[in-house]
Amino acid sequence: MNATSSEVYNYKIVRQFSLVTILWGIVGMLVGVLIAAQMVWPALNFDTPWLTFGRLRPLHTNAVVFAFGGSALFATSYYVVQRTCHTALALPALASFTFWGWQLIIVSAAITLPLGITSSKEYAELEWPIDILIAVVWVSYAIVFFGTIVKRRVKHIYVANWFFGAFILTVAILHIFNNLAIPVGMFKSYSVYSGVQDAMIQWWYGHNAVGFFLTAGFLGIMYYFIPKQANRPIYSYRLSVVHFWALIFTYIWAGPHHLHYTALPDWAQSIGMVFSLVLLAPSWGGMINGIMTLSGAWHKLRTDPILKFLIVSVSFYGMSTFEGPMMSIKTVNALSHYTDWTIGHVHSGALGWVGMVSIGALYYLIPRLYDREIYSVRLIELHFWMSTIGIVLYITAMWIAGVMQGLMWRAVNEDGTLIYSFVEAVDAMQPYYFVRFLGGAIYLAGMLLMAYNVAKTVGAGKPASAPVLSPAH
Ligand code: HEM
Ligand code: HEM
Repeated sequence: MNATSSEVYNYKIVRQFSLVTILWGIVGMLVGVLIAAQMVWPALNFDTPWLTFGRLRPLHTNAVVFAFGGSALFATSYYVVQRTCHTALALPALASFTFWGWQLIIVSAAITLPLGITSSKEYAELEWPIDILIAVVWVSYAIVFFGTIVKRRVKHIYVANWFFGAFILTVAILHIFNNLAIPVGMFKSYSVYSGVQDAMIQWWYGHNAVGFFLTAGFLGIMYYFIPKQANRPIYSYRLSVVHFWALIFTYIWAGPHHLHYTALPDWAQSIGMVFSLVLLAPSWGGMINGIMTLSGAWHKLRTDPILKFLIVSVSFYGMSTFEGPMMSIKTVNALSHYTDWTIGHVHSGALGWVGMVSIGALYYLIPRLYDREIYSVRLIELHFWMSTIGIVLYITAMWIAGVMQGLMWRAVNEDGTLIYSFVEAVDAMQPYYFVRFLGGAIYLAGMLLMAYNVAKTVGAGKPASAPVLSPAH
């Protein structure tokens, strides 16, 4: 116990969220591999309604984004806010409620989505009783997180907390406003918005779910775990502050790029496109800051597989935030929209950035949370290569498939008739869908390896609690 404090960091909640991150990652990716297989072998629907692609797809997206990604964010933010504020988590009972509440939401989603109970808004499919529970858990999360900031024992608020804080606040606002609905039964409600306003609110939500859930929160992870694992200060603290304000200001306006060539007024589409192009600058500012933190310590990449996960994740972040602005250009979007190019873009961000940065952070956390050596560093190295090979197979297959689809759909004969029927384009996808299935299966196998490595680490003895550092440390 530290001489200046009898306080102990609350590691229990971090341990709980860390372990379920791995569990939900495996479940969500298993469903991803199953729906990828259904695209190759449609008979895998088994003529059973709850096993059809249409019902399992939202189960996959909810499981990987909110159960896997969400749990990773809870675990890391609760750890980082305590360590950087030199104080234990505020309101431990409420923090525990956020854990059990979040698990209840995940289980409710896993039951209702396959039953076909859905509000039909992408990434916001859950029906109103679950939405209310999400709002309650999320507000509790905000109270615990900001409560910890308030009781901090150091003056400074480290930049990772700014990103976590923005993510928590913005997601609360997005969730509440996008899900405003009138219930007409226990499992059915209608949105208070209609027509193009509904679409606009939905993609204001949808894009900022990407910007704040899948990006700002994970940048919080990047800003804490890369300097820690590399044992170097962040490359430029000034850049991190500019990065923060520029990113959160710009993201909020970019949503209309999801609604190009729709009934949304043309000027609103153009605003979405322009802000998406501007977004390249803060995104790359963040990427450069993350990667350059390694300057002077590049040699560590040769031997440290955790650092490999973290740095390669930031490279994928850079790649997907270059691709995104390109796809937001209307003429490019005319080709890419509705095609598998979008799916490739999504998964270079999801598997490459979100997945790898979370995996790297967990490998950093587990030995510290349980106060023991990781069972096998060689298995982490193997996991790294399996993830990388899996992603490369997945995204290259989708890029080729996507561009092929776009070109086949628009190819016309001299007399203006279509050269290819739709089913010919579907048929041409078969080999690429198989490669995507293979890539996904390899990525999933890497996650199983991680579960084994972590189980072996955790199973070896009793965990310890760490005393809170005094501000002098
Ligand atoms: C500068 C940053 C980014 C920009 C400007 C951007 C832009 C875009 C564009 C133009 C689309 C296609 C919209 C359509 O045709 O329907 C898209 C789709 C998508 N992007 Fe990004 N992107 C960025 C970064 C990211 C990152 C880092 C991730 C993931 C971590 C991501 C996840 C997604 C998802 C999930 C979709 C699919 C949405 C849907 O239709 O369901 N994006 N993005
Ligand atoms: C083993 C790994 C994975 C596999 C095999 C996989 C597979 C799939 C498949 C087959 C789809 C449906 C594509 C379509 O409708 O044509 C999909 C959609 C999606 N997946 Fe995954 N996925 C995996 C991991 C992840 C992860 C880790 C995330 C997020 C962190 C993620 C986020 C998404 C999103 C947001 C969509 C919807 C994209 C859109 O609407 O444009 N996936 N995935």
